[in-house]
Amino acid sequence: MHKSSILTAIVTFAAALALHAQDEIIVGEFASLTGGSASFGQSSHKGTQLAIEELNAAGGVLGKKFKLITEDDQSLAGQPATIARKLISQDKIIALLGEVASSKSLEAAPICQQSKVPMISPASTNPKVTEVGDYIFRICFIDPFQGTVMSKFALGKGFKKVAVLTDVKQDYAVGLAEFFTKHFTANGGVITKEQKYSTGDKDFKGQLTSLKASKPDAIFVPGYYGEVALIARQAKQLGIKVPLLGGDGWVGDSLLKVAGNALDGSFYSSHFSDEDKTPVVQEFVKKYKAKFGGVPDDMAALGYDSAMILADAIKRAGGTDAAKLRDALAATKNFKGITGMITIDEKRNASKSAVIMTIENAAMKFMQTVAP
Ligand code: PHE
Repeated sequence: MHKSSILTAIVTFAAALALHAQDEIIVGEFASLTGGSASFGQSSHKGTQLAIEELNAAGGVLGKKFKLITEDDQSLAGQPATIARKLISQDKIIALLGEVASSKSLEAAPICQQSKVPMISPASTNPKVTEVGDYIFRICFIDPFQGTVMSKFALGKGFKKVAVLTDVKQDYAVGLAEFFTKHFTANGGVITKEQKYSTGDKDFKGQLTSLKASKPDAIFVPGYYGEVALIARQAKQLGIKVPLLGGDGWVGDSLLKVAGNALDGSFYSSHFSDEDKTPVVQEFVKKYKAKFGGVPDDMAALGYDSAMILADAIKRAGGTDAAKLRDALAATKNFKGITGMITIDEKRNASKSAVIMTIENAAMKFMQTVAP
């Protein structure tokens, strides 16, 4: 081939690629698909994927289809920042979906804010996440609410003395312990003892022995499922009979596989239950089962809602211009999500109901819904 015709071919090809890219709405996603909190990322990604596929099957929005680019942060600190930079500068994403864990969202948020790329966390509940700036949103409730819900529940159960065991490596756990304690002690409860651990620890016997000696009515463990499962087993081995209390971080498919019956009689708060009889929830459960073969958990439902809310905002913004998209996201009102009615407030958080779950015979059971 002649040199100039090769050049023409290359230019034509590049132009075709560019044109194609313009036809698509490129959305980034970062998730812990592997590593210590793989259950979080696997689930949120499945939910997000399902939403994107549904949107595309219906023709996309404004005549354009979505292209989802997903990166695995391997549950490792440091990865979210690298990934956010790559997705923004290389892939030219118009928005970033993620993460589940608050510490991970907190790493990516400043980069999105600086680049004015809207970020939507499906499930990070620590208040600091959206405080990073006006381009950072979440579609879930925040931990001052979740902590209050569990404190009220504990007091209602007659638990007056509670011990606390916190994962100090997670902003989520540190925050939730603080908000629980604040409400609990302001309403007549007593914290008998506090102990700490770090993500990845395997032996909690020292901390548990000290907590047991403080004679609590219950132990609040606002950590993630991996460590909580081991904590529950070791608590049983040490003869601790009081219930454990926790938050949404307990949700993970290996929690009960590892804990077995050790969490029977314990309670935690979360976002969603597949036992919810609302038609939208049951329809989602059916679609999810058909595609993935299992029951969707909280992160799956939240991942789905995050993508659907983004699509809704793009439609209302009339395109993907960053400032317009930001404004449209901020104006989200009464969006009927799988995880409830979603209205974004002036701090870019969602005010939503929580669910309280219990564990019976090594299975999670829905107890009640608590409105904000
Ligand atoms: N809320 C947790 C956090 O902020 C993450 C989480 C959400 C975990 C939902 C499980 C289910 O880190």
